[in-house]
Amino acid sequence: MKNPVWLAPLAGITTPSVRLFFKSMGAGLTHTEMISCAGLAHGSRKTFSMLRMIEGEGPLVLQLFAPDEVTLFEGARRALSRSSFDAISINMACPMPKVTKKGAGSSLLERPETAAAMVRALTPLGLPVWAKTRKPPPASSMDTLSFSGMLLEAGASHVCIHGRTPAQKYGGRADRDAVVRSAKAFPGMIAASGDIFSVDDTLGLFGEGCSAVFVARGALKDPFLIPATLHRCGFPVDERLLAPELDTRLDLITSLGERMLQEEGEKTAVVLLKRLLSGMFKGFSGASRFRKALFETTDWRGMSEAFEECRSSERGELCDRREVS
Ligand SMILES: Cc1cc2nc3c(=O)[nH]c(=O)nc-3n(C[C@H](O)[C@H](O)[C@H](O)COP(=O)(O)O)c2cc1C
Repeated sequence: MKNPVWLAPLAGITTPSVRLFFKSMGAGLTHTEMISCAGLAHGSRKTFSMLRMIEGEGPLVLQLFAPDEVTLFEGARRALSRSSFDAISINMACPMPKVTKKGAGSSLLERPETAAAMVRALTPLGLPVWAKTRKPPPASSMDTLSFSGMLLEAGASHVCIHGRTPAQKYGGRADRDAVVRSAKAFPGMIAASGDIFSVDDTLGLFGEGCSAVFVARGALKDPFLIPATLHRCGFPVDERLLAPELDTRLDLITSLGERMLQEEGEKTAVVLLKRLLSGMFKGFSGASRFRKALFETTDWRGMSEAFEECRSSERGELCDRREVS
């Protein structure tokens, strides 16, 4: 791995174009969205389409969810017959009822034997087996430390811990101490997830022994967080990404939009671009007006016209005028 600042799996977001975009931001590794093994086992076209990758991607981790080791193995086998990945991550973290009700995601925190059997089931496939977990609920038979230790014992080569319980979903604070206790007990094997919104959040976690960080909402809020973090950690970074000029931002979003249009289609492109716009266009005069105009557009044509208009207005002069008017 080029570096330990990684893009987390994000359902509905980490499509091939988005992954390539964050790779260009410097992310050392990216993940697919979580992919249903039941969908793969049933031959669902939509599920299979989520295995697609595009040229230039990688390292790429396939994330799968399943309720048991049999379904998991079948899904993984089918996925690997279609595409190649650098590791497989088992989702033991998703708190959403549509996933947990079926026995997958974070409900596995309460079925440790099944969780361990799932890790063991994948090891014969010959790829590194990873798990993404959460802090178990207070009444569970295992705590964060013993659960992560059990997965490593079963053969996982890396475990990412999101320091929130399933009941917290994405609210409240992630329990960083719980993650760090595992990182100290299993050096080099534990990545941290949860509340990584600043360079200092990552530096603190590395300082306490975490081997990698999974940047999630922080990357959506500010895509330039990844290069800023890498720079502070001493990794080489494209200088243009450190204090990006408006022109650089426009170049990046335009090429991302064009790739999305080609790879994921216009509807997805417009939705995903809107998720990234706020973070990419802030901190210059007229930014909020510009963002508002972009949010009102419903197609790529409108968006690309707004980008070009902004570009041709001498670094946002037009945006300034819009704000004044
Ligand atoms: C929109 C969204 C989609 C997510 N999808 C996945 C997923 O597919 N697989 C997974 O393991 N975690 C998923 N997560 C959890 C994130 O990877 C991450 O663990 C979580 O957001 C905590 O990090 P943060 O507080 O820095 O955002 C998702 C989170 C969000 C907000």
